[in-house]
Amino acid sequence: MKKSSVKILAVETSCDDTAAAVIAAENKRITVRSSVVSSQIKLHARYGGVFPTLAAREHEKNLPPVLKKALQNANVKISDIDLVAATTGPGLMPSLVVGVSAARALSYRFNKPLLGIHHIEGHICANFIDRDEPEFPLLALVVSGGHTQLVLMRERLRYEIVGQTLDDAAGEAFDKAARILGLPYPGGPAVSKLAGEENIVAAKLPKPLPRPMLSSGNYDFSFSGIKTAVLYLVRDFRRRNNLSEDSPLPESFVKAVAAEFQDSVVEVLTTKTLRAAQEFGVKTVTVAGGVAANALLRHRLTDALNEHLPEIEFLKPELEYCTDNAAMIGAAAAVRWNEMSINERTRCRQAWRTLDADANLVLR
Ligand code: KG4
Ligand code: ZN
Repeated sequence: MKKSSVKILAVETSCDDTAAAVIAAENKRITVRSSVVSSQIKLHARYGGVFPTLAAREHEKNLPPVLKKALQNANVKISDIDLVAATTGPGLMPSLVVGVSAARALSYRFNKPLLGIHHIEGHICANFIDRDEPEFPLLALVVSGGHTQLVLMRERLRYEIVGQTLDDAAGEAFDKAARILGLPYPGGPAVSKLAGEENIVAAKLPKPLPRPMLSSGNYDFSFSGIKTAVLYLVRDFRRRNNLSEDSPLPESFVKAVAAEFQDSVVEVLTTKTLRAAQEFGVKTVTVAGGVAANALLRHRLTDALNEHLPEIEFLKPELEYCTDNAAMIGAAAAVRWNEMSINERTRCRQAWRTLDADANLVLR
């Protein structure tokens, strides 16, 4: 008989957050016993983005204490753990390798089964923490620093990408716009803090920013045009006001651009998600990834779905499980483990021999 309770130690090092978590799943209910994230933001901020080899070196330094703290905070020993899980991709190869190697070593040394998890599957499964399993079909709007996708799940563990960005990811666009405006990395929190939740200021700008592909007949996105439009707005503003390239921009202008930028990105994301939810007749809509922490996006999606599709359930992860963390990886591992046969579970005991990181891992 299948064991209905499992304790999972999960590791996530795909980008610039070193994370470990202990997850418990009992009769399919997923709870977080501990979730520890050590952020490298301060280190990378000075480069305006993530520097891969530096990130990997920090992961190597930070992962052992992060793992120890995750076990301590959950009040468990490694011997209490039933399964080890790690993000195998996509992400930065040097970063991924650190987490995968550590997980393989733990699996071998303590004779625990090992499971590799897709990072985006983790982001989506952050929505399954502390609740009953949602109803399928489910549509997930995945918006992170590296991805912008509409993912259709007709059933558990089946992922179909129905639309995606043709250029920049939504989070990447936030980061680039912030940089143009002289705001710190990562740009999402900085832009949204300045912009607030009201679209107060578009009228103060000479012209609104574009809403790319809003009316395209598909579910794809494009954000690089908005970023370029921000660049031109700033350049023209400097010219009109005789400001040199490196002089700081006035706060009222930065605020106006930040608000209009956020409004533009959120409008496109919300409109397309609503349309896809209608077309595919889904029962649940979720949002996932770092940009899911954006307050305006959460509110607009809530309002749009309430107004047009009130019968649909809308799930959004707790803020701490939007940006990268290992609890979401443990949650995805729990869903997978629950679906496995005894033979498949037994094979996981040998996975320490072969589990590889894959920077371009495909979700399926
Ligand atoms: O999922 P995540 O932590 O890492 C990746 O998998 O990429 O997402 C990070 C991205 C960054 O681009 C960051 O600017 C963005 O999420 N982000 C936000 C907010 N918080 C983080 N974007 C908009 N509004 C936010 N509040
Ligand atoms: Zn992520």
